[in-house]
Amino acid sequence: MVSKNVQDLMEKMTIQEKIGQLIQLSADFFQGDNVAITGPLKEAHLGEAALYSAGSVLGISGAQTVRKVQKNYLKHSRLGIPLLFMADVVHGYKTIFPIPLALGASFDPQVMKTASVTAAKESAAGGVHVTFAPMVDLVRDPRWGRVMESTGEDPYLNSVMAKAAVTGFQGTLPLDQNHIAACVKHFAAYGAPEAGREYNTVDISEWRFREQYLPAYAAAIEAQALLVMTSFNTLFGVPATVNQHLMRDILRDELQFHGVLISDWDAIGEIIHHGVAGDLQHAADLALKAGVDIDMMSFAYAKYLAKAASLDPQIEQLINESAQRILILKEQLGLFTDPYRGLSTERETEATLTTENLDAAQVAAEQSMVLLKNSHHTLPLNTATAISLVGPVADTGDILGSWSWQGDPDQTETIADALAKQFSNFTVMPGTQYHHVQFSKLNDAVNASRQQETIVAVLGLPASESGEATSMTDITLPAEQLTLLRGLAQLNKPLVTIVITGRPLDLTEVDALSDAVLLAWFPGSRGGAAIANVLSGRVDPSGRLPMTFPRNIGQVPIYYNAYNTGRPISGTPADDENKYLSKYIDAANSPLYPFGFGLSYGDFTITDWTLSQHNVTPDQPLTIQATIHNSADHAGTTVVQLYTHQQVGETVQPVKQLQAFKKVSLGADQTQTITLTVPYDQLSTIHSDLHRSTDQGDYTVMLGFDSTCTASQPFTVAHQ
Ligand code: BGC
Repeated sequence: MVSKNVQDLMEKMTIQEKIGQLIQLSADFFQGDNVAITGPLKEAHLGEAALYSAGSVLGISGAQTVRKVQKNYLKHSRLGIPLLFMADVVHGYKTIFPIPLALGASFDPQVMKTASVTAAKESAAGGVHVTFAPMVDLVRDPRWGRVMESTGEDPYLNSVMAKAAVTGFQGTLPLDQNHIAACVKHFAAYGAPEAGREYNTVDISEWRFREQYLPAYAAAIEAQALLVMTSFNTLFGVPATVNQHLMRDILRDELQFHGVLISDWDAIGEIIHHGVAGDLQHAADLALKAGVDIDMMSFAYAKYLAKAASLDPQIEQLINESAQRILILKEQLGLFTDPYRGLSTERETEATLTTENLDAAQVAAEQSMVLLKNSHHTLPLNTATAISLVGPVADTGDILGSWSWQGDPDQTETIADALAKQFSNFTVMPGTQYHHVQFSKLNDAVNASRQQETIVAVLGLPASESGEATSMTDITLPAEQLTLLRGLAQLNKPLVTIVITGRPLDLTEVDALSDAVLLAWFPGSRGGAAIANVLSGRVDPSGRLPMTFPRNIGQVPIYYNAYNTGRPISGTPADDENKYLSKYIDAANSPLYPFGFGLSYGDFTITDWTLSQHNVTPDQPLTIQATIHNSADHAGTTVVQLYTHQQVGETVQPVKQLQAFKKVSLGADQTQTITLTVPYDQLSTIHSDLHRSTDQGDYTVMLGFDSTCTASQPFTVAHQ
């Protein structure tokens, strides 16, 4: 339904004004002096008219600034159409939550939702209308630095989290002033670049794309995300941004996406480098035909659409459709009623960095930390223990992670400062920097550790080494840090390693040298306090891995829901009898830590589990009841995970597919019975004709605490 207001505007607008709506410029076009004469406009060979007709801007925020820019813009807008402000509000605005991969590790959609609600509230008060989030790209390759922005390797977990993020950012439609529009990205399959190299070619079959990569985008669109962003990569041989099959057939027709489709930064211009357009005019033409409504920063639309429209009525029609979609979005945001969306500096101050927001960020960090090893109950630590705190991340605020441009590491409490509030007796001596060491300092740190009872080493990478354009070929910790760890391990004292990272690392040696390993990711504004609470046992680290951690880089990509092969994935390197199996001769097939893995201070078992019925139909979902017991003398939290496997299918089937999970918190020696349900439709798979349906036949359901669980029961599926 198009409102009267939008219809009227569409009638009044000139073709040039409509094209203007399709153009997005970056912040520097609107800020600073003389932007029109000597600044970016000149560099881009655009006239001043382009500035005041551009429909949206990215990267401007702050109540006062946004008010000023909007006011000035409206002075120049003939029809009073407000400017749309977009930005990357990814895991928080000023209050920074753990990175999205960590939020995925929470295995709790409510945690993701709270993070998005908070980010929306703060950034809306800072004048942001649209966030370029969530990124729901499925990821399997830790060499790719952007895995930190995803929620991991699993289609089901990603879908649940995608939905939670969209509903958190947007609330229930229509949007109110505390919510912002979500832009799902990057459509599509940006998370599968060959060799993990940023922006590289993606080439997966459409069957596999639909089976594993598409579900999370579909879930976000079903949750009514108002925008979608195209991806930089090629898919099915055609760059996504101009891929008509992807954008028209799949996104618009099949997924019924009616919102605004925006290109990624200069992605339209890059079609020339892909070798699919001869020049920018050609690229503009292809992108518009694929249905891209907004051109982010390639200037192709600004420069060439007017001419193209005068030559081709189809182009004019497409411009009309796109302009209308953008006006509808502006209306959904309430901009025609109040172009400032209630902005004021008072509201901004009241909404940002509140205790409530920071507390929520802390809970999210606590819920997303993964305890990877805990020999002899090394953790939790008694708060009177004499601790030697070492490592390059022990005393820095660089724990926010990439895509936190409004967060301030200098204002962020360090892990050392947070520990000081709970632990009465510790020394801090980093011993090494991230990539650089002075051996005298390293020796000092080792010698200081000799005097203390327990060593806590905080190792990892700076935020600048994950996120966009940070692909890596080596995922071990820097040699300097491993040297420190080896020195510490020789002291034969309890050694706890905390890992700060935006991606899975090869932790084989870290695991071997440490008594306990805590994966803290980039834990955000209150990460220090969360780590202190986990170390002291005030809270249980209840995150579980959303990505498989390999033994070494050679195993990559490695993920739990692989297909069986004709030569099953089994056997050990030394198993000569079974040489011709799918395996390596120099390493095990199994990862260091599997998907779904994480320890607790509790000690959990599933004492009993039953299926309500052994036959699943469209009206009768798979329903299991399980009794969970915590036998520890500690409270704890676990994540019960349900996987299925279809015995025989028309196409190959994953060895295991996550279908449901539940986080369960139990006191010492407590028991609880839980129910998990999987609807018939969720058991569907993609067939060779690329259609999705649920097959009749024999299946197994497996239940446990990570993806290696083996306890299984059979069930059958029938169409009625
Ligand atoms: C990234 C997008 C981001 C955009 C705007 C691009 O380089 O790929 O994810 O939203 O920049 O900042």
